Amino acid sequence: MFGKLLNHTTDGQTVTLHYEKQTAYLHVLTDTIINVFVPFHTKEHLSKAIEGGKEQPVSFTLQQDQESLVLSTPALSCRIHDDFKLDFHDKDGNLLCADYRGRRIPRFTLQESLVELSRKEGHEVNLSDTVDHPVQCVKTLDEGDCIYGLGDKTGVLNKRYYEYENWNSDIPDPHEDCFKSLYKSIPFFIILKEKGIYGIFYDNTFRSYFNFGKENNSYYSFGSTDGNLDYYFIGGSSMPEILTDYTYLTGRMPLPQKWALGYHQSRWGYDSEETFRGIAKKLQEHRIPCDAIHFDIDYMERYKVFTWDKTRFADAKTLLSDLKKQGIKAVTIIDPGVKVEKDYPMYEEGISNGYFVKTPQGDTYVNAVWPGDAVFPDFGRPEVRSWWGEHLRFYTELGVSGVWNDMNEPASFNGPLPDDVVFTDEDRTTTHAEMHNVYGHNMAKATYEGWKNLTGKRPFVITRACYSGSQKYATAWTGDNQSLWTHLRMAIPQQCNLGLSGMPFIGTDIGGFGADTTPELMARWIQTGCFSPLFRNHCAIGSMNQEPWLFGEEVLSIYRKYVELRYSLLPYFYDLCRVCEQTGLPVIRPLVLHYENDRNVRNMNDEFLIGESLLAAPVVDQGVTRRLVYLPEGVWYDYWTHEEYQGGQYYPVDAPLDVCPLFVKAGSVLPKAPAQMYVGQIPDPELILELWPGTGSYVHYRDNGEDFSYRDGAYNEYLIENRDGQEAGIRKLHEGYTDYPDIKMVYISRKKRA
Ligand code: GLC
Repeated sequence: MFGKLLNHTTDGQTVTLHYEKQTAYLHVLTDTIINVFVPFHTKEHLSKAIEGGKEQPVSFTLQQDQESLVLSTPALSCRIHDDFKLDFHDKDGNLLCADYRGRRIPRFTLQESLVELSRKEGHEVNLSDTVDHPVQCVKTLDEGDCIYGLGDKTGVLNKRYYEYENWNSDIPDPHEDCFKSLYKSIPFFIILKEKGIYGIFYDNTFRSYFNFGKENNSYYSFGSTDGNLDYYFIGGSSMPEILTDYTYLTGRMPLPQKWALGYHQSRWGYDSEETFRGIAKKLQEHRIPCDAIHFDIDYMERYKVFTWDKTRFADAKTLLSDLKKQGIKAVTIIDPGVKVEKDYPMYEEGISNGYFVKTPQGDTYVNAVWPGDAVFPDFGRPEVRSWWGEHLRFYTELGVSGVWNDMNEPASFNGPLPDDVVFTDEDRTTTHAEMHNVYGHNMAKATYEGWKNLTGKRPFVITRACYSGSQKYATAWTGDNQSLWTHLRMAIPQQCNLGLSGMPFIGTDIGGFGADTTPELMARWIQTGCFSPLFRNHCAIGSMNQEPWLFGEEVLSIYRKYVELRYSLLPYFYDLCRVCEQTGLPVIRPLVLHYENDRNVRNMNDEFLIGESLLAAPVVDQGVTRRLVYLPEGVWYDYWTHEEYQGGQYYPVDAPLDVCPLFVKAGSVLPKAPAQMYVGQIPDPELILELWPGTGSYVHYRDNGEDFSYRDGAYNEYLIENRDGQEAGIRKLHEGYTDYPDIKMVYISRKKRA
């Protein structure tokens, strides 16, 4: 396809490769990041994920040897061959990643005669397992390679042997392991080898395909229907380094407001002022700490965004201010689809300014969502984003504290939007085919920027659809799961992979969105969900209500125990968010992130880390009250009993209904808060520092938890030294904010295992 390499030229850190039939570029961004670019579609990158220049000065060399042209940075080298075959090596010369040269051979093909038969029973039959795409790359796989990331895909943690598609999709059926796509398109994955590790960020927004060795065990491929071949090869020496590099490129989650880490109660179907007041009252009566209640589409007047139904909510402003007195903030859903209705201001304004996407013939494109016929803002245009952002004033003036963007794949009820619907990418006219996967991303950007301008506070925005880089604007949830044990189980690898894809602030609908939960499932889900950064119980209209008090006394007290656990650990979660902002490392982490050389954790689907200090091994199966827990190397302590465990092995652990097995790494310092019903109930609470046996150090972060003054230095950072859980030294690394009224030390003593 490319032919022979004829010659090359170098301009700064970009090497232009002139092949017989095509020109390609390698751009050295940092020691560990090289961009590979073939401008099939546009001359420029036009990335939606990467903002601003990312090039750092790198002293690289370019040498011709007998075989190939070799580009070397201090950390990586890339051998450049004819036909644009590239081989990447680490600094010690180990081959990390080679372009595949052989013929593509599907592992299995169906006999023609069986195809008709299979189709008769309704099976989807793909005759050729080798699907060539107009833009594609095929690279070799080694026997032990494991693959992680790729956003919110269903199924197991290690994506090796599976295939996926990136096309943001709202699929109402129960999410199955075999789904190829869901709501988010994050074309980033990490390949962990027996020796070595690398990441690839394939920055292409068109419908894309990833075959991770399903077609053939000796290669994997990624490709798209259109666009450029534009990928970033990231070669670090550990998984955290790869993730730090990926988030250096695509951005990191900004610190959230502290309250956003509290508990959120939600249900599609809370549809009147009385209902909301009733829920708030019950939360208080049952002593369930809570920081937010979500207003689903029922608050609107006939599902028109930027309206509030006056018949069911006589005075929304007073309602919201009363809830706030109880510490409860309102988060409102906003969908992109604007109802087609004469004299409805959002519609009329958008039409007169030409802000909605259009048909190729130039008419406003109409599909249908909740309000019936609806039109879609062209969020790729800066003026549309500003218009939307300015209108958010409707919500801020009522006292709303956060926005939940939904249906922004965009979902549509009258069939999918055709590929040729006209969209804009900043000032360039393009189509739905290119902008679909970044529609939710651009809507999140409009919301984040608008909210920030209006309030000056850190915006709390949730989004369902994402692209790489959406972490800069929004938190996300995994969409419409169901009250199924399989979905509770899947929540772990799904959230872990989202974290490995640069999206740290995530959560699932606790209890399950669709279908009906059971007391046991609710108890187990809250034990897993209390560790999700986005901590929300949400369910669908038509399914059984799932507020915590509806499952009997036992489940209610279990529920309270885990919400209280979360509130006590809020300083730890907040510290982890600070770490996210600085390094890109997520809050919820698969064990493989920190123990990549331990083969036992490479396919670990039912345990996860919260930061580096806590390991949760929840029960995710019905009827189970004892489970095997694997603890990686080092010494660990049972959070509940303080019993000591040697890592590197499995243990059978008791887990009656009220116990989520939870372990603390030796030497940990856990920063904790006193009990509160909401963040800020105690205006300036003391800090509790739990020192666990073992030696270690910990950095704790403190600021006002609300605005951006920390970026001008208004924060404190404390270094806490833990010497075998006994004595501690606390030193300030940064001083720019007030001190705690008190710091209480709690020394945990080790207990022998019974
Ligand atoms: C979508 C959302 C869900 C919401 C519902 C109604 O299904 O994913 O969370 O409750 O729409 O707005």
